[in-house]
Amino acid sequence: MKKDNKPYLINFNKIGNADLGYITKAENSKLPFQIKRVYWTYFTPDDVIRGHHAHKQLEQIIVASSGTIKLNVENTFGDKLEFVLDSPDKALYIPCIHWRTIEFSNNAVLLCLASEEYDESDYIRDYNEFKKINNF
Ligand code: TYD
Repeated sequence: MKKDNKPYLINFNKIGNADLGYITKAENSKLPFQIKRVYWTYFTPDDVIRGHHAHKQLEQIIVASSGTIKLNVENTFGDKLEFVLDSPDKALYIPCIHWRTIEFSNNAVLLCLASEEYDESDYIRDYNEFKKINNF
């Protein structure tokens, strides 16, 4: 499967209406990668900035299933993009080799669909090491 090399927003379909509420789904056949792991983070204080890493291979689709999440994403050329996830039908695709920082409103739940199982050796946690990579 082709690897995308830019982050982009995905607008998932909503089933339902304002009177009854909504369902939104993610299906492998409609995603840029096959999901191997799902995780979620929650109860993050609103003064904490998480992330501060990139991944060598991992691709992710991130949803704010509740609350608001702000993500800053940077490629190895120093191009920076800011995204705000403020609706459960909105998602952000993050390719590999992108440094990210993440801020949360205090009720936020971040749902992550990931292309790989957890592997600490896939992380780049040193920003200077990240900036030395030049493969895009
Ligand atoms: P990390 O991905 O660095 O979180 P964040 O970017 O939100 O700050 O993960 C935090 C810790 O949790 C780190 O020690 C690795 C561990 N972890 C797992 O063991 N399994 C997982 O699937 C994830 C996402 C993290």
